[in-house]
Amino acid sequence: METVQRSVIDPTQYRDVMGHYPTGVAVVTGTVDGEPVGMVVGTFSSVSIDPPLVAFMPQVGSRTWDRLAQADALCVNVLAHDQLALCRTMAVPRPGKFDGVDWSPSAAGAPVLTDAVAHVHCRQESVVEAGDHWIVLCAVDEMEVTRPATPLLFFQGGYGGFSPAGMAAKADADLITAVRLGDRARAQVERIAARLECEAAALVAVSPDELTTAVSAYGGTATMVEPLGQRIPLIPPIGEAYVAGADPEVVERWLAKVTPDDPALVECYRRRLATVAERGVALSMVGPGARSEYERLHEALAEYASGELTPARERAVRSVLAQTRHFFDDVDVLPGETYDVGAVVVPVHGPDGRVALVLRATQLPAGVPGHVVGGWVDEVRAAAACVERDLANGGAEQATAYRDWYEADFPL
Ligand SMILES: Cc1cc2nc3c(=O)[nH]c(=O)nc-3n(C[C@H](O)[C@H](O)[C@H](O)COP(=O)(O)O)c2cc1C
Repeated sequence: METVQRSVIDPTQYRDVMGHYPTGVAVVTGTVDGEPVGMVVGTFSSVSIDPPLVAFMPQVGSRTWDRLAQADALCVNVLAHDQLALCRTMAVPRPGKFDGVDWSPSAAGAPVLTDAVAHVHCRQESVVEAGDHWIVLCAVDEMEVTRPATPLLFFQGGYGGFSPAGMAAKADADLITAVRLGDRARAQVERIAARLECEAAALVAVSPDELTTAVSAYGGTATMVEPLGQRIPLIPPIGEAYVAGADPEVVERWLAKVTPDDPALVECYRRRLATVAERGVALSMVGPGARSEYERLHEALAEYASGELTPARERAVRSVLAQTRHFFDDVDVLPGETYDVGAVVVPVHGPDGRVALVLRATQLPAGVPGHVVGGWVDEVRAAAACVERDLANGGAEQATAYRDWYEADFPL
């Protein structure tokens, strides 16, 4: 007698449980009878490296798959976080869905969707029936990352994006408390910009991983390179003036991001933090001929600030930052020598004794004698002392509001 095997798992429960597992979103494309055909799959997966195999799983009865199965060459297009509209277009079962879509044919003839993150060019190797789906195993001919952006993700019936763990920061709309605190330093920031003929800013921490530019002003020939609200990563060597006086947890978190992860290098950074804490100022030097390297540092910071970093790009940004370490070496400024100073950064303590913000002078005039640099340091220190006095008096409310706001998400 034939036994009928019945599922003990209710379909709703199956969907619900599997819905807790996120997937990427890809469009499998091919050309059939000269026409582009494509379908969205959340089931695209890597299978084997040697030989290179990938798979995806169309539903049995999918009309689109029935057609696409006739294509010799397939292209799996991994969608980017900003391609939700394209995903929706490709997921509907109607003809003509490539109208208005940007694509070009691959060497093998499959449609390659423009602006997808990656393209995997493949051919069907075997098709296995698996319940109500097919497992389509494909041999990879070619593959490339076309645009290293973060991918589109599908989770519990909704779409979203990827954000790196440990890089949690407050939402932009939520930064008003930090900006109010920075605003207490406005007069001093403007004074520094005018007197040092530079870009001056007050930077406030918005998470244990990031500062933000709360106030800025420009003097001399300085121009705006860093917009207000730009996020500045606390990744070594960046942020040392803030980190040097911060809680041990923030210090260790910063040191854990030292690239490469070498104990001797970590020790170097620890010593640098000690010097910065002792001197109450972090000076970075550009040095002759290093302007272009300094610009690379700014580009890396801007890329970080754009907020679209994939983990791979974040590692790349970290390594660029690490290569600029020599800008941040301790230097004893001698009156008779000439210097190209990258930045003068001084911490400002709140009434609770913790670093509340930092004052930073950048885009400073180049090739100045040591006594001028000494004068700048004195100016920024005096400005910081002035802001500290204000925070202990009239600005106490903003200082407390900021501390409460910060600790609500990042308790110390
Ligand atoms: C995020 C997402 C993931 C999907 N994943 C799959 C999949 O893995 N397999 C599948 O057969 N259909 C999947 N679909 C549905 C198809 O893309 C498409 O809607 C369907 O194939 C159209 O119906 P038809 O195949 O009968 O033409 C998915 C749709 C979306 C929006």
